[in-house]
Amino acid sequence: MAVERTLLVVKPDGVVRRLIGEVVSRVERKGLKIVAMKMMRLTREKAEEFYSVHRDKPFFGELVEFITSGPVVAMVVEGDEAVNVVRLMIGATDGRKAAPGTIRGDFSLDIMKNIVHASDSPESFQREFKVLFSESDVVEW
Ligand code: TYD
Repeated sequence: MAVERTLLVVKPDGVVRRLIGEVVSRVERKGLKIVAMKMMRLTREKAEEFYSVHRDKPFFGELVEFITSGPVVAMVVEGDEAVNVVRLMIGATDGRKAAPGTIRGDFSLDIMKNIVHASDSPESFQREFKVLFSESDVVEW
């Protein structure tokens, strides 16, 4: 058993489509534990920092525009192998290729507007967490 934390973010398209509850519900039904959660509107600066690994990609500008276009709901999710488990729950990046039953597979037909973000490794979680949260936001229970 390796209890991990990961970051799950409902992106602006997910918020606009009223899917916050759907995403939270799936996390809870799975048995994972939400230990921090907040709604925020990312500044351009925060968005560029959050997606800094994609800085040189052709879609970077559009991605920053999109993630700052409306509110996001960010949560820290804890559980056994949470990083991998949540990645499996969200599905492949492109909603058209994501398996049915996954969040993206069930709700997205797009590669950018794909409802959610989740950390792809414990190292990514550490970095992303610091961009969106401070330690005092985490509630132990
Ligand atoms: P990436 O880290 O490759 O995917 P994931 O979100 O599954 O970890 O890419 C980050 C985001 O960048 C992705 O959710 C949507 C966007 N993106 C595009 O807009 N076009 C692309 O071709 C790719 C690969 C990603």
